Amino acid sequence: MKIDQHTEIYGIIGRPLGHTLSPVMHNAAFEACKLNAVYLAFETFDPEVVLRTVRALNIRGLSVTIPYKSAVMPLLDEIDPLAAQIGAVNTIVNRNGRLLGLNTDALGGLKALEKNRIIINEKTCLIIGAGGAARALAWGLKSKGARVIITNRSEAKGAALAAELDCAFTLWEKRADQKAEILVQTTPVGMAPHLNQCSVPDKIFKPGMTAMEIIYNPLETKFVQSARAKGCLTINGLEMFIRQGAEQFRIWTGLEPPLAEMRKAVLASL
Ligand code: ATR
Repeated sequence: MKIDQHTEIYGIIGRPLGHTLSPVMHNAAFEACKLNAVYLAFETFDPEVVLRTVRALNIRGLSVTIPYKSAVMPLLDEIDPLAAQIGAVNTIVNRNGRLLGLNTDALGGLKALEKNRIIINEKTCLIIGAGGAARALAWGLKSKGARVIITNRSEAKGAALAAELDCAFTLWEKRADQKAEILVQTTPVGMAPHLNQCSVPDKIFKPGMTAMEIIYNPLETKFVQSARAKGCLTINGLEMFIRQGAEQFRIWTGLEPPLAEMRKAVLASL
């Protein structure tokens, strides 16, 4: 990789970022397409300062992750209609100093389910968590005809999201009592520093159920292991991660994303 005065800068903001593989994935994509661009990790407590810096230094694009997917929205100049409906932004593009927020998580999640040939229409889906990724997946699953139930550790936040997206809500204590056909794990429980923990009790898993995880590092979370042991069809977070990243690449560069190279680079780092 050649870095010079023309190199375009991209990055990710969030906290913590110690385990993110977004830089590995996006730098592999830039390299595969021979772009003079670099992607860095910007761990921060202050997204507002970062966004001012993005404007000042003409940083071309950002990924946004935990816990800023909703927090960045009022700091942007424009929100894409899909991201506005979802209520979360995971992608920022800098268009001549104007920052536009978009969401590629919903499409990434749906593509991961599609790759595993999961039929969504008329299925009951229980979403664990109510953060930015949960918003995108709830919206995406609803758009494909699913009946979506949300559960969240903080009742008020979960109930508010359910009301906003016109989904059902169930109390955290009752999450194992739902008769869901698709389970979607969107909390950070299972990745460092919550390795070997699971956001749901073991009894929630039933044979034949689809259990989808959004954590990709590690690939095998406790959630995935427990679900598989109980006879569920499991989907780890890798495919959704690659697909949401591929859509970001498309937005930033206008080019077809080099999916195979992106997947290979991420797998090599895991
Ligand atoms: P993001 O926007 O990237 O999805 P977020 O907004 O911080 O991140 O949301 C993280 C989700 O994981 C929230 O639903 C959070 O639950 P609370 O609303 O109760 O905070 C959930 N979460 C985080 N840590 C958790 C834990 N230890 N146990 C259960 N849920 C947790």
